[in-house]
Amino acid sequence: MTHSSSGSTRRALLSRTLAGLAAGACLPAYAPFALASPPRRLSSFDAEVMPLLKRLTLDQKIGQMTQPDQIYLASLDDIEKYYLGSVLSGGGAGPKSGNDAKTWADMVDGFETQSLRTNPRIPLIYGVDAVHGHNNVTGATVFPHNIALGCTRDAKLVEAMARVTAEEVRATGINWAFGPCVAVPQDIRWGRTYEGYSENPDIVKVLGEAAVRGLQTDNLANPLAVAACAKHYVADGGTAFGTGHDAPLDQGDARIDEATLRKTHLPGYLTTIKAGVATIMPSYSSWNGVHCSASKFLMTNLLKTELGFEGFIISDYGALQELPGSYKEQIATSINAGMDMVMVPQHYVEFMTLLKQNIQEGKIPLSRIDDSVMRILRVKFALGLMDPRRNQLANRSLLSTFGSAAHRAVARELVRKSLVILKNDSRVLPLARNAAHIHVAGVAADDIGLQCGGWTITWQGGKGATTTGTTLLGSLRKVVSSSTRVTTSADGGGAAGATVAIAVIGEQPYAEMKGDRKDLHLSKEDVAVVQNLKNSGVPVVAIIYSGRPVILDGILDHADAVIAAWLPGTEGDGLTDILFGAHKPTGKLSYTWPAGDSTSFHLGDAGYKTLFPRDYGLPYD
Ligand code: GLC
Repeated sequence: MTHSSSGSTRRALLSRTLAGLAAGACLPAYAPFALASPPRRLSSFDAEVMPLLKRLTLDQKIGQMTQPDQIYLASLDDIEKYYLGSVLSGGGAGPKSGNDAKTWADMVDGFETQSLRTNPRIPLIYGVDAVHGHNNVTGATVFPHNIALGCTRDAKLVEAMARVTAEEVRATGINWAFGPCVAVPQDIRWGRTYEGYSENPDIVKVLGEAAVRGLQTDNLANPLAVAACAKHYVADGGTAFGTGHDAPLDQGDARIDEATLRKTHLPGYLTTIKAGVATIMPSYSSWNGVHCSASKFLMTNLLKTELGFEGFIISDYGALQELPGSYKEQIATSINAGMDMVMVPQHYVEFMTLLKQNIQEGKIPLSRIDDSVMRILRVKFALGLMDPRRNQLANRSLLSTFGSAAHRAVARELVRKSLVILKNDSRVLPLARNAAHIHVAGVAADDIGLQCGGWTITWQGGKGATTTGTTLLGSLRKVVSSSTRVTTSADGGGAAGATVAIAVIGEQPYAEMKGDRKDLHLSKEDVAVVQNLKNSGVPVVAIIYSGRPVILDGILDHADAVIAAWLPGTEGDGLTDILFGAHKPTGKLSYTWPAGDSTSFHLGDAGYKTLFPRDYGLPYD
């Protein structure tokens, strides 16, 4: 391979790899971007950073530390006027008209162009939650959520996913993704369980590192790289039930000793820092009563000093307003504790005014401000943003592969490898493609929104044809023989006489605190679908879409086969690949699966009764 510019070399490598996957070639799971060398240390940019830092006024430094959500920008001019360092699109905060990739690129270029007018010229870093693909954008490749990736145990494929995600993010002019989430959820009643790869930090640390490698490559200046963000620091998945903020667990208090924090919740940060992660986001939650966003021990002593993190710390969305005291006091507390950039996200002028007052009143030392801006500039230099020869606008040529078949082939392989066979009595699976009659039941069977779950097009996700993709039913109709009769129903009625019936059931979409649950039972409607099918006297396969293990009482005894499909995303073909045996299942649980008589769902509690242990997953042969 000739070594032309790294961008085209990488693209050629990726294209060939993805083409191989798309063609079904028996490539290794993924020809990795073998990191030519360890990532360049961010502090190695200080020779360029420090002279610029010295030239900045206090207002310009404050502007670099400020990140509004684009939906709250009073005027495009504010980007130049206030020297804003960053802008984000929160969940679903897309363009005002249209949600396709080109419209996103036009929107982001509009913001970027404003920042190119600043003097000294410091381009924006634009952030978005690309947490399972560029999931806000219609037509993007939407991958399975992290809980499914954890069941693949396939770091190379997770790296490939991140690589594809970075390309699709770059196609829209965005250069920063708020991922990977390296939470280690210990209580599956938490609404963010599906954002975690596993309850086991050994799985989380490997896949989190792979995701950073895929997003950033080994050179952040690669035009196909985006800055990553390890989140939510730290022990966001370790909160005690009942301590949540507006919900039982989310944003609650992790009441654990330091040894447990280091052993269970820190490993994902050790590996992502080693991989050169450019940014880290503190959690809304607290550790033993102290908010992570206010903890000098966590953000400065541990993360920056002990672990040597050289990038910058970005707050969560409005997280400072959850700290004790007035807004001015919250700002002083968090910045002094080590916060570098604040995701305000709405009242950014007020934020900058109060930050400046704190500095002028001596409540925040200028040295702390300089540390923050130095870190922000390090990332911008590393991304190549400061090179005047580099065009900072969207690479429109990447629009041609946005949501492409090659990209979707990577997602399809991840879907295949993420499915966990929980039950397969009398070897109902795999199904025959030439079965005489297949009945498909359940509202989720032909619903791309339910297949994708939260963080898809909108923050909470939603039912229906929310984006483009292949549903399970859509894929099944392609796969079965022309002689196969396919019937459908919402409630499981009408299956009598079928060769086999498939029930597609599971959770409605949710994100964050909206997904906290006290009760993990499947809905009575879902249970009824399975029971109606069983009452038809036909073999029943239950496929479950969920962001966590759910209580299987009521269906486990009625279904002959049960598949945990998690939240598979847009590529339903990965489901039928396993259903009809084109590929054999290899997925293994990355979370323990509780029994219905559990009295607790916090891992390790005496009341947590195991139905299926972590690492469980049936093969076909
Ligand atoms: C959200 C989430 C965080 C996300 C951020 C920006 O509230 O906690 O994961 O990156 O805000 O959308």
